[in-house]
Amino acid sequence: MKRRLWFTMAFAGLCLGASAAGDALRFNAENYTLKSLQMPDGEMVSYKAYEGIYYVKNVEDSTYQTLNLYVPFGVKDTDSVPILLRTYVGGYMASTAKTPSATDATGRALKEGYVVCIPGSRGANSVVKRNGEEVYTGIAPNGLLDLKAAVRYLHYNDEVMPGDANRIFTDGTSAGGAMSALLGATGNGKDYEPYLEKMGAAPARDEVFAAICYCPITDLEHADCEYEWLYSCTNDGIRGLDESQKAVSEELAALCPDYLRSLNLTTPSGEKLTADNYRNYLKNLLMASMQRALQEGAEIPDSIGVVFYQEKQDFMGAGPRRSRPSGERRFPEGLDGREAPSFGPAGRPPRMELHTDFVADLNLDRYLTYVASVTPLKTPPAFDQEGVLVETASPENKVFGNAQGESANFTIFSLQRRTKDSNAVLDEELRHRIYLMNPMNFIGGDSQTTLAGHWYIRHGARDRDTSFLVPVNLATKLQNTGVEVDFALPWNRPHTGDYNLDDLFAWMKRVAEGK
Ligand code: DHB
Repeated sequence: MKRRLWFTMAFAGLCLGASAAGDALRFNAENYTLKSLQMPDGEMVSYKAYEGIYYVKNVEDSTYQTLNLYVPFGVKDTDSVPILLRTYVGGYMASTAKTPSATDATGRALKEGYVVCIPGSRGANSVVKRNGEEVYTGIAPNGLLDLKAAVRYLHYNDEVMPGDANRIFTDGTSAGGAMSALLGATGNGKDYEPYLEKMGAAPARDEVFAAICYCPITDLEHADCEYEWLYSCTNDGIRGLDESQKAVSEELAALCPDYLRSLNLTTPSGEKLTADNYRNYLKNLLMASMQRALQEGAEIPDSIGVVFYQEKQDFMGAGPRRSRPSGERRFPEGLDGREAPSFGPAGRPPRMELHTDFVADLNLDRYLTYVASVTPLKTPPAFDQEGVLVETASPENKVFGNAQGESANFTIFSLQRRTKDSNAVLDEELRHRIYLMNPMNFIGGDSQTTLAGHWYIRHGARDRDTSFLVPVNLATKLQNTGVEVDFALPWNRPHTGDYNLDDLFAWMKRVAEGK
């Protein structure tokens, strides 16, 4: 809850005198313009716009290190409404502080009466000139540090600005989804403190209440092996890899089982999650997605690997007789799992009725082939690609590069390939930066960070930008720590975010109200 201790503030103001008056990070509630946004249904949403606020004292890159804050009309300074913090980071690139959009979660949040904060942040392509030299300002973890500094700004000013800093929902898609996950996992992390202090970030907490992560491109150190392990069934078929690509793919895939074992994850039914049962676990998540879509009226062709429930009919058309081929045994009402006689009363074979609204099984290889047929898969390695089979740097190679604009490998596998040195190791400084960019390092165990208590994670069921294992591991690891996780692989969704806003905002309302 937001506390409104005006008399305490006034007293503190008297004590601090001139230094408080000169506080560059103090929010000025009077410094706004009035704006409005037309929603898709024609409704006009009006709000106070506080734009171009610097959220650190030592600004390095004035193009990106600002935030915009939007307060719906009618929300008073004293109101304690949740805050949606939306990052528009994509491709690990820099992102300016944007204005709200009627078609994404920012516009919807304003309509629902939330305060909206849209911070800019440095990224792989942000550059400033210093002493005539180009300096890359957004190498990892700087983009994340900017977002954490923006969160600190909200906490620091909680008493003097609208919105409740104790109920910040972060939201982002893809690399932005990764940033949202990092904000959710690394709250108040001591490892980030020296950097934030140097930047002149507000002396405040940076934990968040909830993280909304659409298709997070995260766990970058392991994403290559997870990609190859999952999609190996397509290498000779639709993916059409050549011999050298296949060799790299196989070597990477072979690293995955050990990584999965090291995660020590447990499924909701209490089984250890390993490479042995992982495909089945994933299959069930995809089947749940299909089943939900069918219930909502989608049509799914069996050519993509779905096996529909079939049942025997007797000759009088007297209804269901047979259990589902596999998966959870759920029988149509009144059957109770009784096995039907295999022949009808006249000794003739029974008629099979196909229920195309009831998923019984999934041929995973066929389904993955379908995913790859819609959008061609990345070639191996999918992320740390520079110098392995191609010379070009991926966005990830760039973000792990240095201030001089040189890109870098961030896995030992690719580094050793590129340098042709099987003893090559990542240098310590880079290893630390890689560590700081992976939320998986801060969830569970004896992590010193404050973990967000609520997570909404979505990865489209035909999104091939990263392996399904990446979001599944993230969600499972979070579930294993006991925080609340709403996770799904929404049917037929490609690599995209901020969809099904009715569902998202129903979830946000419920968790914000503590229900
Ligand atoms: C994004 C997509 C990718 O496939 C990737 O490797 C990194 C980032 C993105 O859309 O942000």
